[in-house]
Amino acid sequence: MRIDIISAVPELMSSAFGHSILKRAIKNQLVEVNLINLRDYATSKQRQIDDYAFGGGAGMVLMIEPIAACINDLKSKNSYDEVIYMSPDGELLSQKLCNHFSLLKNLIILCGHYKGVDERVRQHLVTREVSIGDYVLSGGELAAAVLSDAVIRLLPGVLNDETSALSDSFQDNLLAPPVYTRPAEFNSWEVPPILLSGHTANIDKWRHEQSLERTRARRPDLLK
Ligand code: 6GU
Repeated sequence: MRIDIISAVPELMSSAFGHSILKRAIKNQLVEVNLINLRDYATSKQRQIDDYAFGGGAGMVLMIEPIAACINDLKSKNSYDEVIYMSPDGELLSQKLCNHFSLLKNLIILCGHYKGVDERVRQHLVTREVSIGDYVLSGGELAAAVLSDAVIRLLPGVLNDETSALSDSFQDNLLAPPVYTRPAEFNSWEVPPILLSGHTANIDKWRHEQSLERTRARRPDLLK
């Protein structure tokens, strides 16, 4: 998979891809992530990428010209399955949507900033709009990093058996069960004895029950 992320502040995302699971996925060439600086596609000599909103009001708007130039340049080199615009008024990101994206080959993710992008970008250049939740971020960059992380970890070979995505919360509409590690007792707080029993079938059954119980208590909406 190839993910090209267009942003006015790409530096905001570099750390997200430089560590742990995502870093290894990139090193092992399971995914290629390109952070693209929108300013590199500015057309004016002042390298302007944003301007005042027509009709007035506070806040700057990302201009269509550099965005179109950037997307056209990318499309001249690769074909893309989706051009995703990160926006709080987009479709809410879910595990189901992440599973969908993980089956695609090439993605463009466009990050809004300031007051957003010229509406014509959304009408004509974008195929999909995604939000990561009902709250407002300063820009789409952290949301793009969240989406990318959630998708990349689903790609074959990124996780090993021990970190398998199959045991994640949400993958089967259930929250994950509690986990423990050594020591078996701390401050007289004990690990559930069944986990120390070595009886795999009973442990699996216990974990499933815990998942159900936890989902009923915390997210009953997932069981409907
Ligand atoms: Cl995708 N962008 C911004 N700016 N805020 C958000 C968001 C996206 N998702 C939730 N809040």
